[in-house]
Amino acid sequence: MRSCKVVVGFFIPCFCIIYLSGAFSPQDNYLINCGSNTDVLVDNRLFLGDSNSIYTSQGKSVVFEENTNPSSNLSFLYSSARVFNDASKYVFNINKIGTHFLRLHFSPFTSHNYDLRKAIFSFSANGVLLFSVNTTITNSVVREFILMVDKFELEINFTPNPYESSFAFVNAIEVFSAPDDFIIGDGAKSVGPKGIREFNQNMTLQTLETVHRINVGGLKLTPFNDTLWRSWITDEDFLILKYAAKIARTSHVPKYQKGGATREIAPDSVYMTAQQMNTDNVTTDFKFNITWNFPVAIKDASHFVRLHFCDIVSLSPGQLYFNVYLNGFTAYKDLDLSSLTFRELATPYYIDFVVYSGSSGVVQVSIDPSNLSSSMRKNAILNGVEIMKMVNFVASRTGSNKRNVWVIVSSVLGSFVLLTVVMILAALLFFVCRKKKLKSKPSESAGWTPLRRYGSSSHGTLSDGTSPGPNGYLGQRIPFAEIQLATNNFDKSLLVGSGGFGMVYKGILGDNRKVAIKRGVPGSRQGLPEFQTEITVLSKIRHHHLVSLVGYCEEQSEMILVYEYMEKGPLKRHLYGPGISPLSWKKRLEICIGAARGLHYLHTGFAQGIIHRDIKSTNILLDENCVAKVADFGLSRTGPCLNETHVSTGVKGSFGYLDPEYFRRQQLTDKSDVYSFGVVLFEVLCARPAIDPLLTREQVNLAEWAMQWQKDGQLDKIVDPHIRGQIKLNCLRKFGETAEKCLADYGIDRPTMGDVLWNLEYAFQLQESGTLGEVPEISNELPVPLPEGLHNEVYNGDGASDISTSKVFSQLMTNEGR
Ligand SMILES: *[C@@H]1O[C@H](CO)[C@@H](O)[C@H](O)[C@H]1NC(C)=O
Ligand SMILES: *[C@@H]1O[C@H](CO)[C@@H](O)[C@H](O)[C@H]1NC(C)=O
Ligand SMILES: *[C@@H]1O[C@H](CO)[C@@H](O)[C@H](O)[C@H]1NC(C)=O
Ligand SMILES: *[C@@H]1O[C@H](CO)[C@@H](O)[C@H](O)[C@H]1NC(C)=O
Ligand SMILES: *[C@@H]1O[C@H](CO)[C@@H](O)[C@H](O)[C@H]1NC(C)=O
Ligand SMILES: *[C@@H]1O[C@H](CO)[C@@H](O)[C@H](O)[C@H]1NC(C)=O
Ligand SMILES: *[C@@H]1O[C@H](CO)[C@@H](O)[C@H](O)[C@H]1NC(C)=O
Repeated sequence: MRSCKVVVGFFIPCFCIIYLSGAFSPQDNYLINCGSNTDVLVDNRLFLGDSNSIYTSQGKSVVFEENTNPSSNLSFLYSSARVFNDASKYVFNINKIGTHFLRLHFSPFTSHNYDLRKAIFSFSANGVLLFSVNTTITNSVVREFILMVDKFELEINFTPNPYESSFAFVNAIEVFSAPDDFIIGDGAKSVGPKGIREFNQNMTLQTLETVHRINVGGLKLTPFNDTLWRSWITDEDFLILKYAAKIARTSHVPKYQKGGATREIAPDSVYMTAQQMNTDNVTTDFKFNITWNFPVAIKDASHFVRLHFCDIVSLSPGQLYFNVYLNGFTAYKDLDLSSLTFRELATPYYIDFVVYSGSSGVVQVSIDPSNLSSSMRKNAILNGVEIMKMVNFVASRTGSNKRNVWVIVSSVLGSFVLLTVVMILAALLFFVCRKKKLKSKPSESAGWTPLRRYGSSSHGTLSDGTSPGPNGYLGQRIPFAEIQLATNNFDKSLLVGSGGFGMVYKGILGDNRKVAIKRGVPGSRQGLPEFQTEITVLSKIRHHHLVSLVGYCEEQSEMILVYEYMEKGPLKRHLYGPGISPLSWKKRLEICIGAARGLHYLHTGFAQGIIHRDIKSTNILLDENCVAKVADFGLSRTGPCLNETHVSTGVKGSFGYLDPEYFRRQQLTDKSDVYSFGVVLFEVLCARPAIDPLLTREQVNLAEWAMQWQKDGQLDKIVDPHIRGQIKLNCLRKFGETAEKCLADYGIDRPTMGDVLWNLEYAFQLQESGTLGEVPEISNELPVPLPEGLHNEVYNGDGASDISTSKVFSQLMTNEGR
């Protein structure tokens, strides 16, 4: 008997059961009348006043005084708001982990001290930025999001625009659990030029924002009519050729079936109306489409599209075959609803798709009859459409400028694949190194290709086997919208620099952190490898003397890097150029020591070491305390494998700083950085550019010119006049000697960064130390011959035993202990 029932239940329409089960009642259900001390019943739902609320204690209540006699309960709900002048939040306890609806109601009004139409703000839910505006909200609007809440708390943050010293507001909030399986993890198909594929990210984990919800062929539906208090609108305004379509209607309640739609997926009214082919005025061999264009505000975004079907036009099953297209691409060919609904008519069914809107700014839905239908019964139908923006979904663009969104790697699956790829490649690399070691033949080494986020084309690996985060990078991904807000949409007044990669802006993040935002030329993928290298390098290192990466954004066509803000900018700017106030010699020494320390860490802090490849005075930045930090890792490579001496690579770097040996032999070692650093040392001392084409031929190249003076023992003659009086002679000598060694022709003759650091520390001691005895200071006049005796005094640079170096050693040791 029992099994019988089950079988019967499977085939017989079970709408009766759903009728009995009654309205959906969500496990979590928060309805808030913001900024009010009164509860209000709207569409049979009680919105609680939040004046003494446990959900927020922040912001203040603002009331629309003129609305003394609201025309409806809804307008009463909208006559108060909570206003936030600072970043603020609502926190809701969540009982049921899973998909939730979040609706925020905004209905701006003017009270005596606030004009809500002037509010500029953003908001986020559990850290996911949902909305960022620079424009103001001038009409009543409900923003609806469908999101996975995976912890027992939902925090909604409101952040006013920091530049406009603006404020945020909200009139009402709804948070409620969605029915089980409302969004199915693996149910969506991705549609594009490469055909139809399984969408291979877990759809349940995507944050969706409703853009359109359409009752095709039907009437407008209000929250009062809908099982989940949604609003649906009519489709007429979106139809391209109105006469191509004809409305179909039924008065029979749909027959819901297991495996198909439920009344919560869409209410009866949606399935009881449709548009179908209007064949009234055509012959039987007609060829046309019904097409709807749904505008989507955000170009270049991916959208989740849910199409609702219910065959209310056929007289018997198996007559209706039709095709569905999204943005001109086939989404479903020869769709036969009866085969999906156990040969029942009038049974609701829905299909989920993911489609990329490209630059068209529309999601286009078309239907037309399939070839399989008999010429007498050619028809096609559509009952409902929902289009939702995938809020923080980033489409892949592996390989080229052509956007291959269709190759989308699941963040869950993707990171697993990436991890595997990383592990395999790490093993391979190890093997390759071993092999080379055995052959002991230096040749094209497995250089370091930056790790790509989208698995398939990745040939790279992280040298120390660090595993990537869910995005493939370890850094924090920052939504583009947040970056727009932080930079006041890339306000020109916030520009602090520009370079090969693009523009650099100063910005303030939502948490008030000052950052530097480096934005690649949008749409240009030129700097992509550098971009990815930088993220990969920076996200695995943290050092006081290396600029740290706060996050990055690779969204739409943007490549953006976000760094800690370095108040004083590049070292170069403080050495020469217009309007500088010259740094003292001591400061300069400290800066050199700091930079050397950063570079030393870069070279030695990892199993394989990292070669910077582009050391120059513009890549050494100063923070507000003049602490030097090495920046710009875009050209970095990992060092050679053990027992190999170099990495072969195309010559990259900047003129004037380029290691001649690297240039000649195209072989990269950490000694190439040492060379460039030597140039920086002379630059700091002489306060002139590495290359100055306006000078005489022998002076153009700083490295050559300064080396000549150094070799002649007359370095003091070319010292920056601003500091000439400050330098102790011994210190200058040590400094010059260090720079000279850095600039040795052959890498093998150059010191390591550790040695350089040590020598600079020592020079600093010589400058500071009173115990060395007062060395006569060089006077300000130029040129001043040195006292003869000092010229000939040879300083034993290696035997440092004659002065107290314990401080130097302790400093070095604490650094190397990392
Ligand atoms: C409006 O609110 C009043 C008082 O809360 C309530 O009695 C009434 O039923 C509400 N009307 C609607 C349409 O919800
Ligand atoms: C998607 O994620 C949800 C929530 O983490 C999980 O329950 C579900 O099994 C996942 N589905 C797939 C297909 O991975
Ligand atoms: C929807 O609800 C409104 C009341 O808000 C009612 O007047 C209308 O008839 C309902 N429409 C449908 C299709 O149920
Ligand atoms: C069909 O033809 C009739 C008469 O020619 C015309 O009035 C009507 O508008 C046409 N309908 C469509 C959908 O073109
Ligand atoms: C309908 O539209 C699709 C997509 O735009 C197109 O590929 C197809 O050829 C069209 N069919 C007809 C009959 O025009
Ligand atoms: C459908 O019919 C059209 C025209 O009759 C033809 O060009 C097309 O190849 C057919 N498609 C299929 C899949 O049979
Ligand atoms: C934001 O507002 C400022 C000031 O009104 C304006 O300069 C800027 O261009 C705006 N940005 C956007 C996103 O429209």
